[in-house]
Amino acid sequence: MGVRAAARPLTLRESVRPEDRQAVMDVAASSGFFSPAEVEMAGSLVEERLRDGEPSGYFFVFAEDGAGAGSGAQAAPLAGFACYGPATYAPDWVDLYWIAVHQSRRGAGVGGALLELVERRVRGARPTTLVAETSSRGQYRPTRAFYEHKGFSLIAMMKSFYAPGEHKIIYAKRLEPPGFP
Ligand SMILES: CC(C)(COP(=O)(O)OP(=O)(O)OC[C@H]1O[C@@H](n2cnc3c(N)ncnc32)[C@H](O)[C@@H]1OP(=O)(O)O)[C@@H](O)C(=O)NCCC(=O)NCCS
Repeated sequence: MGVRAAARPLTLRESVRPEDRQAVMDVAASSGFFSPAEVEMAGSLVEERLRDGEPSGYFFVFAEDGAGAGSGAQAAPLAGFACYGPATYAPDWVDLYWIAVHQSRRGAGVGGALLELVERRVRGARPTTLVAETSSRGQYRPTRAFYEHKGFSLIAMMKSFYAPGEHKIIYAKRLEPPGFP
């Protein structure tokens, strides 16, 4: 990957606010990885969470620039976000629906910080598996490298899922409770 940007103070926030809808769409769009429909989908997850609360099944972590950011009325710039939630009918599996870092902030530890907090929240009283889906497209090589570097293993591939020759790649990471044998 490229040169790492100098580390900047970062604040992680889990509460969801109305302005996060546009902010997550801006981050997703900046990446150049997602179609307009996918960008819209990221915003709609925020909306669902605001409307239904925890029963929506969507949990967020927002990374904001600045120490103590987001504590005042002024919204801090969003450096990245993650969205995760329990998989349907699979009590010990959790889906990482989204993780995205603003294009201008990539390679500076923001994604790692987001993932670390997601893993801390997901790690429960019994082993849990965190699942991340991505694509086999060349553009996603850095994304796959990120997951592999962070201890995810490739568990399945759905051939030509997105388009002929473009496979869905499914990564998983088993998270065990502290002291688990
Ligand atoms: C994938 C993504 C979330 C990673 O976030 P990031 O802030 O750029 O990653 P970080 O700087 O926190 O890197 C975390 C670790 O992964 C490693 N890593 C990141 N990209 C890597 C790459 N291309 N190759 C090898 N290692 C890589 C880093 O070296 C770092 O290692 P360390 O923790 O030992 O220092 C981000 O690049 C992104 O938003 N990509 C586009 C959107 C996307 O693909 N999202 C996932 C699919 S929904």
